[in-house]
Amino acid sequence: MAAPFLTMTGICKQYPGVRALDGVTFVVSPGEVIGLVGENGAGKSTLMKILGGVTTPTEGMIEIDGAGIEGLTVNASMEAGIAFVHQELNLFDNLDVAANIFIGREPTRAGLLRLVDDAALHRQARSLLDQLGADFGPERPVAELSLAQMQLVEIAKALSLKARLVIMDEPTSSLTASETERLLAVVSRLRADGVSVIFISHRLAEVEHLADRVVVLRDGRTVAELARGEIDAATMIRHMIGRELKTVYRPPAAPPGEPIIELSGLRTVYRPQAAVSLVVRRGEILGLAGLVGSGRTELARTMFGLDRAVAGKIGLAGSKVEIGSPGDAIERGVYLVPEDRKRSGLIIDFSVGDNITLANLPAYARFGLIDAVRELDQAKAQRARLEIRCPDTTVRVGLLSGGNQQKVVLAKWLSMAPRLLIFDEPTRGIDVGAKAEIYRLMREFSDSGVGILMISSDMEEVIGVSDRVAVMHEGRIAGFLERHELSERAILSLAIGRSAT
Ligand SMILES: Nc1ncnc2c1ncn2[C@@H]1O[C@H](COP(=O)(O)OP(=O)(O)OP(=O)(O)O)[C@@H](O)[C@H]1O
Ligand SMILES: [Mg+2]
Repeated sequence: MAAPFLTMTGICKQYPGVRALDGVTFVVSPGEVIGLVGENGAGKSTLMKILGGVTTPTEGMIEIDGAGIEGLTVNASMEAGIAFVHQELNLFDNLDVAANIFIGREPTRAGLLRLVDDAALHRQARSLLDQLGADFGPERPVAELSLAQMQLVEIAKALSLKARLVIMDEPTSSLTASETERLLAVVSRLRADGVSVIFISHRLAEVEHLADRVVVLRDGRTVAELARGEIDAATMIRHMIGRELKTVYRPPAAPPGEPIIELSGLRTVYRPQAAVSLVVRRGEILGLAGLVGSGRTELARTMFGLDRAVAGKIGLAGSKVEIGSPGDAIERGVYLVPEDRKRSGLIIDFSVGDNITLANLPAYARFGLIDAVRELDQAKAQRARLEIRCPDTTVRVGLLSGGNQQKVVLAKWLSMAPRLLIFDEPTRGIDVGAKAEIYRLMREFSDSGVGILMISSDMEEVIGVSDRVAVMHEGRIAGFLERHELSERAILSLAIGRSAT
């Protein structure tokens, strides 16, 4: 076997109150795809940040091409050929694709002024994009691209830097199925060119499909290394959570009851030409499927009063209501757990506890004062219930790992008394164990008489969790599927505007 490109030995990282990494040894050989998996907070991103020179380890050694490196910096990491495809993408919206790929390294024309050679810039960018099978040109403004396309720009940038290792931290968590497939093909191509890839994902099927080797982290330690033939989802899960995962989905305890919410001819400001009618009943989980852009989030925003409906009616427990603001919605027990937790779900500078209890402050107020003890109890209870990993509830939410932040968003809404819960992509970026826990909580809520509307692009989740599914296409409901009619094929054909077959 070829000499390793990179060796990390005995890496520890101590944060105040948290030992994020505890003696991890990690080796990368040329041209291998390593799947890096583990529960939320296991230390995956921290290990990668150390490789990128963004964070310094408390202890441990890093060698690149056999030479020890003291105090790896961002620049040294980049120069050694380590590139990141960031989840929060680092691109300049106002520049075109080519300029973003070569930013700071633009080819220049001969002459005193060193003007940027635009023709060469675009030519070189085009050739990189072609290698990656991109469906857009170098002259497109980045602002017009989809997330998947932006990721390709980042990968093109990595190629242009002659990257030897590309690190992808949850690259597919916001991609559609076909975009994901394309990204996986790009990873295979990188491998064929001798580039190593570290692929972090909670979608274990992708890891199974792609990885030559899998490293499992738990509580900051390497608990398993699986070779190609040993990689399967069940084995990864067992190592990740240290036990077998019990059944994930549970059917409802009783048939659904009367309607909780009834939309008739509802038209959103986004797509006023399309009218939506649907009913969510007591005790049922209605899945809302559809392609990205089919209007699911717009519908949720309108139901929650973030946008005004331009026409149509909303009936709540039998009577017509106006939901003009989120305040109206919350007062009526309609809650939205949003998709974009950073922008609309959390206040990143507030503590975990404050984020959990924020939306429900009146419940802790007595004589106009906030009852801090009750508030703290509630925050602690929710933290335990969802197994949110943090030293205590006073920690800033921004310091939690991605998946744990998502759990805080959930905790915030679950601490109230909902009638209708709208979840928009509830388990994006969440590990398998916590997913099962969230499904269990959803079912607990629905069994207690709450109606649930769950927007999800995760087919397995839609089919597993929903009692019934509404499929959207171009702002309309293309069709409803009953539990026994649910299949990936039936959902997809409605989602692309055909009838369910
Ligand atoms: N800057 C920081 N200050 C304090 N604690 C931190 C900091 N960054 C990370 N941590 C903690 O270190 C631990 C590991 O976090 P990390 O982000 O590496 O997890 P992860 O495996 O990437 O999880 P996820 O799957 O949720 O993304 C967590 O407990 C996290 O709260
Ligand atoms: Mg992470």
